[in-house]
Amino acid sequence: MQLAHLSWPEVENYLGLFNGIVIPIGSTEQHSTAGLIGTDAICSESIAWHAGAQTEGMLVAPTLCYTPAQFNLGFPGSISVRTTTLLALLQDIVQSLAYNGFRNVYFLNGHGANIAVLKAFIHDWHQQSVLSKTDTLRFRIKSWWEFKEVNDLRQRLYGEREGMHATPSEVSITQFTHRTVRHFETGFRKLETSYYQDHAGDNHQDAAQHRSQFPTGAVGSDPTLANSKDGKNLLELASNALVSDYTHFTASNSAGK
Ligand code: NI
Repeated sequence: MQLAHLSWPEVENYLGLFNGIVIPIGSTEQHSTAGLIGTDAICSESIAWHAGAQTEGMLVAPTLCYTPAQFNLGFPGSISVRTTTLLALLQDIVQSLAYNGFRNVYFLNGHGANIAVLKAFIHDWHQQSVLSKTDTLRFRIKSWWEFKEVNDLRQRLYGEREGMHATPSEVSITQFTHRTVRHFETGFRKLETSYYQDHAGDNHQDAAQHRSQFPTGAVGSDPTLANSKDGKNLLELASNALVSDYTHFTASNSAGK
């Protein structure tokens, strides 16, 4: 079920039975010449929608698609917000949900740079709860590619050509859900292991330098390998993994009550 497609009495009814919600979070930024600007948001929301359609007790909130991506501003179409903007937005959204009884908040993430901000938000939320002596909420952050079965499949399908950004996995999912772009040469270039270590979580800085270093926008990936058949498999696998992880997450809460 999607929150946006329910009426308020239906939401009230849901809250009489459940208290969990999934918030898909992505980005609006270049994904090489072969990928869509909305790739990260499309991946997390399509996986969440697919999971939510088959799972009682999984409500999916509207997608958060404006997030920090300053390093991609050298590519047209990219939109970046400050981390403080996203923190404020998260605070307002979660406060609104909590006010009406949501207690378990599951972020399904599709963009590396969101992870640090989500962790900071959760830290601050807990601190606020501790200091005001109020019950806190439970949170979970999961990036869709982290699920073991999904990670195994993407490694099996693309190996070292999966890369870091504009990966064939994410482009495959958008080809399945939306369309295939007529792209030009993406110029696969293998990254050193140290690059992955130094730049985990989209730890890139200067936008002009980022574009000159990665002129097509692909970062160590080969998105020309993407295809919608793989996209369907990846989406379904991630969706099943989400159902299982979310069910476990929300059930462990009621057991602890
Ligand atoms: Ni992406």
